[in-house]
Amino acid sequence: MLDLLGTLTRTHTCGELRAADAGKSVVLLGWVNRRRDHGNLIFLDLRDRYGITQIVLDKEVGEAAHAKAEHSRPEYVVAAVGKVRLRDKDVINPKMPTGEVEIVASELRILNDAKVPPFSPSEEAIGNEEVRLKYRYIDLRRPEMQRNFEVRHKVALAVREYLSGEGFFEIETPFMTRSTPEGARDYLVPSRVHPGEFYALPQSPQLFKQILMISGMDRYFQIARCFRDEDLRADRQPEFTQIDLEMTFPQQETIFGVVEGFMAAAFKAVGIDLPVPFPKISYDEAMRNYGIDKPDLRLPGLADVKAAFTAENLAALVIDPNLPVVALRIPKVGELSRKERDDNKPLFDQRKGAKYIDDLKRLEKGFPEAAAKVRELAGAEADDLLIIVAGDAATHIQASDTKTPGRLSEREIAVYSAAGNFRVELARKYAERHGAFAVTDGVVTDEGRNTGIVDGSKAFRPIWVTDFPMFEHDPETGKWMPAHHPFTSPHEEDMDRLVSDPASVRARYYDLAMNGLELGSGSIRIHQQQVQQEIFRALGMSDEEAKARFGFFLEALQYGTPPHGGIALGLDRLVMILAGANSLREVIAFPKTAKAIDLMVDAPTPVSEQQLRELHIKPTKG
Ligand code: AMO
Repeated sequence: MLDLLGTLTRTHTCGELRAADAGKSVVLLGWVNRRRDHGNLIFLDLRDRYGITQIVLDKEVGEAAHAKAEHSRPEYVVAAVGKVRLRDKDVINPKMPTGEVEIVASELRILNDAKVPPFSPSEEAIGNEEVRLKYRYIDLRRPEMQRNFEVRHKVALAVREYLSGEGFFEIETPFMTRSTPEGARDYLVPSRVHPGEFYALPQSPQLFKQILMISGMDRYFQIARCFRDEDLRADRQPEFTQIDLEMTFPQQETIFGVVEGFMAAAFKAVGIDLPVPFPKISYDEAMRNYGIDKPDLRLPGLADVKAAFTAENLAALVIDPNLPVVALRIPKVGELSRKERDDNKPLFDQRKGAKYIDDLKRLEKGFPEAAAKVRELAGAEADDLLIIVAGDAATHIQASDTKTPGRLSEREIAVYSAAGNFRVELARKYAERHGAFAVTDGVVTDEGRNTGIVDGSKAFRPIWVTDFPMFEHDPETGKWMPAHHPFTSPHEEDMDRLVSDPASVRARYYDLAMNGLELGSGSIRIHQQQVQQEIFRALGMSDEEAKARFGFFLEALQYGTPPHGGIALGLDRLVMILAGANSLREVIAFPKTAKAIDLMVDAPTPVSEQQLRELHIKPTKG
């Protein structure tokens, strides 16, 4: 028989009582975390979001309460009525904030029983993530998860407060809308009243926030849910949340200042000082120095080591002398075995005409002078892993290597990015050995889980990456694609090359990266309708197509659009970094699997034929 709560009211949480509370009469409510039965004495660890308190059931103090404790099991929900007592010195638990006290219960009520759970919330790591996701309510009881959501809440609140203080209005934009191009597929919602027509769930509030600027709202923000049907990874979910903002009349630096302000506030909310302003680097510099547009500043950058080689050396090593020769360095890895070297080969992306020469130890044998110079140029210590990446002189790639003065060519980018990606792969692989950080699926995080907050010394290294190219060349379609989205403004001085040399056009587009992860993206937008139309044309979109897709927006642009710009940061990614987690699933309450399935509610599911008929949809047998 279960007991009733009746008029019992919680006096304290399970994380609250201290030695100074000894002697108080209290009522504690929570879940049984653990039960230890010593015959006449039973100990229950009672758990709630705030902590764990030990309850003592002494048969001599209360026989009925003791009997209830005999029946209680892990995850039962109970109420304990009793007095706070100091623990004997030898049983004080210094690891628990409540470890100096215990509650001697005179009454215990079992408010609800529980089936034997598939895993215990008191276990630290549960290997099987599918089980965790199916029984998410039990998983979320784990202190680690509760802490992650505390972080999430504090971060979102700090951002809201900061932006509100800076004059931003939080304005909600629709979920049922039409497609905005952010590069992924849309989730579609069929219309019942308009047969054959669909709403799209927003990939981001991009066009709405721009229209809010046209509407004179001046400063907008939204903690906005976005939906993208794309291939999922540890740092991508189909439903995710952005800290989205837009402002009128900004310079790029105005936006950086706002973001640095709320980032510092968010970090402060979880006890971390984040120095501002953040460093800035142009896209070209980022490629040269790190070989990637989201540099991880916790690792040494790439070193230009071409000067270490003579022309004969380069020829002997089949290195293209017109392309960069760079060294990547992973500290403290030590010497690699032959097998390790072989195992590393597949981690290197050779497709683009770049090649890696080998790690330095091997180069030393054939080219001792060059090797010594490389070591010097790269500033390497004896136990660093040092690898040289260069252009492959034997590869004739199709892509022309036209070069705009001052900008990187496609082949140069190929060498830098091959080195940059290899650097991240190797850092991930040897993370444990050199101990500086751990890298997980596409994401670089601090070593170990949940160390970020606890250890304030952990490095959080933000960096702005600016002046991205306006267009990317899609080798499959042969078309130019927007590097960001088609509403991004080109640099004013590059405008005249939109058609003649699109590769050389820089965009007023910036990213915020942190610890090797892209945290946010934004841009100064196009505010003149003619320019917008020109960009659509440069992207190979006919005027008719542009009108059909974005007619409403092209029209809005004609009614007095002010210069404007903004940015969106991934809230989930930010919280993931702060929580020291290695997947977004650790910081989203009800996430989807890599196959976009919600295992708890079991979605997606088939729907009834009746529902489909109403929506004018005919199922096809797949
Ligand atoms: P973008 O598409 O770069 O820009 O997205 C901005 C930020 O949102 C986060 N993000 C994601 N997080 C989790 N799962 C995903 N599938 C996912 N996709 C994106 C990332 C990313 O940096 N409208 C523009 C912003 C602007 O121009 O103002 C936009 O959405 O952290």
